[in-house]
Amino acid sequence: MSKSEQTEFVIYRSEVIHPQDHLSNLDILRAAEARNGTLELTGFLSRDHRHFVQFLEGQTADLTKVMSMIERDPRHHSMKILASGRQDARQFADWDMGFAPVTGDKQQALGCRNATEIRTQLQNAARAGG
Ligand SMILES: Cc1cc2nc3c(=O)[nH]c(=O)nc-3n(C[C@H](O)[C@H](O)[C@H](O)COP(=O)(O)O)c2cc1C
Repeated sequence: MSKSEQTEFVIYRSEVIHPQDHLSNLDILRAAEARNGTLELTGFLSRDHRHFVQFLEGQTADLTKVMSMIERDPRHHSMKILASGRQDARQFADWDMGFAPVTGDKQQALGCRNATEIRTQLQNAARAGG
């Protein structure tokens, strides 16, 4: 994906419904990866035990469309836009949707570029959690 193109970006925070290592994270990322790839949206999703924080960037019409779908998604609520605007270059040009769960006590962010990496991380987390 070209880095030097004018795009719009948005960063929001919302409150999670499911616990940290729930497999719904994987469903979200699979849907995001598929649709974002088609629409040329890129970005990054992070969560801890209470909040999602997502950075999403792309062409205005596509971003608006997907943001309204995300806002209606019952797996989170109370979305609050933290920042939005236009930018001359993408921040996450190679990431259909990166994912970084942050574990509460360790505050350790795990970056994953695609659904395969995310599945591995979630399986490891589920195993470690017992
Ligand atoms: C926190 C969060 C982030 C999401 N990010 C994206 C995204 O970047 N791109 C996308 O296409 N869908 C994303 N989704 C999923 C869409 O909201 C979901 O696919 C859409 O509402 C349609 O629902 P369906 O997949 O059950 O048909 C996200 C969902 C949540 C809860």
